[in-house]
Amino acid sequence: MLAKSASILIFFFKAFYAYHCESVGDGDKFPTSSNCRLTDAKKRGKKIMTETATTPDINVIKSKMKTIWTAGDFGKIAEIIQGGADEFIERLDLKPGETVLDVACGTGNTAIPAAKKGAAVTGVDIAANSLEQARARAAAEDLEVKFDEGDAEDLPYDDGSFDTVITMFGAMFAPRPDRTAAELTRVCRPGGRVVMANWTPNHFVGQMFKTGSKHVPPPPGIQPPVLWGDEETVKSRLNEGISNVTTVRIPIKFKFPFPPEQVVEYFREYFGPTKTAFASLDADGQAALKKDLVDLWTEHNRAADGTTEVEAEYLEVTAKRA
Ligand SMILES: C[S@@+](CC[C@H](N)C(=O)[O-])C[C@H]1O[C@@H](n2cnc3c(N)ncnc32)[C@H](O)[C@@H]1O
Repeated sequence: MLAKSASILIFFFKAFYAYHCESVGDGDKFPTSSNCRLTDAKKRGKKIMTETATTPDINVIKSKMKTIWTAGDFGKIAEIIQGGADEFIERLDLKPGETVLDVACGTGNTAIPAAKKGAAVTGVDIAANSLEQARARAAAEDLEVKFDEGDAEDLPYDDGSFDTVITMFGAMFAPRPDRTAAELTRVCRPGGRVVMANWTPNHFVGQMFKTGSKHVPPPPGIQPPVLWGDEETVKSRLNEGISNVTTVRIPIKFKFPFPPEQVVEYFREYFGPTKTAFASLDADGQAALKKDLVDLWTEHNRAADGTTEVEAEYLEVTAKRA
């Protein structure tokens, strides 16, 4: 009985990690084997049917995802990209009183600087422990930010509630992109904007995901999150109720005061998906995953002084609500 429960849990850890780390095809160009973009752009009408036909029980997957995102301590990961989050908010040119929804807000990396601009900010996320950290951060800075537990695919807000809907490395991880796109659009007021920061498939983070998928094969039927970082795909997704979409690729640095091997251990300890992926593998599997991740970080490392500095890239997407 115990063994059966453990193997079910391991399956979901593997499924989750694979989902987040799905191979994006061989070679540099993405995608090759995936038909996700085709599904999005050209088979819109058939897509939901395809998803339900091939995806394992979505409610079970979603519940496991919640468990996985609450593993580790995401705040320790968020620290690394705080500078990039500040710059993302700076570019939005938020006005005092502007209503902002931060979807998949995590520990408040974008919600907090948005509130500092005088915006009326609400953050929403599935991970209760990250929301606790976000609330504590806002309180420490004497900022009023509302943080709610909720799902990007089923946002607990009325239509047109917000002037600006943002999501940095967040909504891209919800498993059903159609629903996510529809929800981001629905809660944005006519004339407002939806602004996303999505990891791109062919740059460093995309490669990191690809490395993960080599060790933890992806489950069928769920589209890779990095497709949100593909221009054509994101334009096809943010389509209904949207009058215009622009995209720009933005570089972002990961900097650590220690070498790549320790970076991998840092992710293994604090980043829920990495932590649970390692936990799902046996000793040989863990060693192999670690080796490949260390090799990747080493190959991309620009520092030569025993520290780690890697340049990554995301796609900033601005969709104007019709
Ligand atoms: C990589 S973190 C980014 C967090 C934050 N936006 C930031 O930039 O620091 C991804 C976040 O997405 C959240 N998340 C994943 N799936 C979600 C979903 N379906 N609905 C809401 N939040 C979700 C996770 O809990 C996690 O906080």
